[in-house]
Amino acid sequence: MSAPSASDAASSADALPVGALVCPEPDQRPDLWPWTATRDEDGALELGGCALPELADTYGTPLFVMDRADLRGRANVWATAMAEEFWDGYGMAGGDAFYAGKAFLCADVVRTVTECGMGVDTASLGELTLALRAGADPRMVGLHGNNKTEAELEVALRAENAAGERAGIARIFLDSPWEVGQVEAIAARLGVVVPVMVRVKTGIHAGGNDYIATSHEDQKFGVSVAGGEAIAVAEAVLASEHLELRGFHNHIGSQIIGTEAFEAAARIVMALRAELAERTGVCVPEIDLGGGVGIAYTGRDPEPTSPVVVARALASIVREESAAAGVPVPHVSVEPGRSVVGPTMVTLYRVGAIKDVTIDEDGRQRRYVSIDGGMSDNIRPALYGAHYTAPRANRRCDGPVMRCRVVGKHCESGDIVVHEVDLPADLRAGDLLVVPATGAYGRSMASNYNLLTRPGVLAVEGGRAQWALRPETLEDLYATDPALA
Ligand code: LLP
Repeated sequence: MSAPSASDAASSADALPVGALVCPEPDQRPDLWPWTATRDEDGALELGGCALPELADTYGTPLFVMDRADLRGRANVWATAMAEEFWDGYGMAGGDAFYAGKAFLCADVVRTVTECGMGVDTASLGELTLALRAGADPRMVGLHGNNKTEAELEVALRAENAAGERAGIARIFLDSPWEVGQVEAIAARLGVVVPVMVRVKTGIHAGGNDYIATSHEDQKFGVSVAGGEAIAVAEAVLASEHLELRGFHNHIGSQIIGTEAFEAAARIVMALRAELAERTGVCVPEIDLGGGVGIAYTGRDPEPTSPVVVARALASIVREESAAAGVPVPHVSVEPGRSVVGPTMVTLYRVGAIKDVTIDEDGRQRRYVSIDGGMSDNIRPALYGAHYTAPRANRRCDGPVMRCRVVGKHCESGDIVVHEVDLPADLRAGDLLVVPATGAYGRSMASNYNLLTRPGVLAVEGGRAQWALRPETLEDLYATDPALA
């Protein structure tokens, strides 16, 4: 089955009349913008009480600006929705939300989301070490990956709590039959018992793009439910002295709108849990239903589905399926990334060269607006055909507009940040453009292509600005070149 995605809606943008693709202002589409975004009396966009033109002058561009109050709000909504919908007072067995660190991770974000009660989901040595060093409680940290290294597993198993005792992280997600032996061997060597979950593929095909759909059969993640592999791996875990089977995990994909695909996957995972209970007498205490809740990137995208709506839909399925199978309800966790951090950040760029290009024999023109970043700070348009939008940040966008394409400064014609957007006809070099909804998979997927330095992330709150991540310098880049360092 396929689920609708937000980016489909924007794909036919080229055909629209000029004027239809003006970026909605914060008061028109609040879901597209961080919570505190507004225009000040001079017409400049403001975030966290800081005017974006002043931030650009002080801190330079390109610049990610993160609304920390907004991040706190979104983390609170997820943590509360899961705690409330799965509250044991409602006959449930508890619920948690783990922030998917791959969306964007730095110490500031770890602290902000964990203070709100979220755990942290990691997928590499870098993410895991960062989460632990930033102070995340190991009992609220998970480790994913389809090819985990010994080093990653050792850090996970040795992780210490605040008292300096070995605690180990909350759970390791086994992604293949091979990993049962791999994790068991390390656990045996360290003399510990490791809580694990088995990641399964449910056959649900969902997500904004094939590259971000993760639960259909023909892709690398998880073990198949349909082929009986999931049960076999679970039984192998149950037979192991050093592994403790906590439950099953499924992540169907990313950038999903609505609850239908999540519900279908939840039913399959619950049926699998009941099947294992029937075969072995062991009813695993937990399930994890992954991340994937979509956000809006442009004014043409549908409004995102609220975490509360998703949590409630999952809770009713979990309750129903448990009753139908006559098994106790499980503890339920989820792993949202994009919907926590995506809308909390914008990217601020300075406009440089502007060029009108004749694009067909009828003399139709397209205005190319070049900015000072590009595919190195936002690879999503090039990688997934993702759509973004951008208004002018330093002045209002009233008056006549022109259909424009916003392009980066890299040596690639596919270096496009915004495919189509209507921008003020009087846009000039030196103006500022701001792209909303760049918090997830923006800075985290940034590269040094063309030896550009990766931009910093400035956290703003209550009129104050502070680096969450400072910008890279040329010296950072050259430090790994022995002939230059
Ligand atoms: N859990 C697991 C196991 C995942 O693999 C992912 C994302 C998440 C949770 C979080 O999903 P989210 O809530 O952020 O959708 N780079 C792509 C997205 C790749 C997602 C990878 N896994 C993009 O920019 O759209």
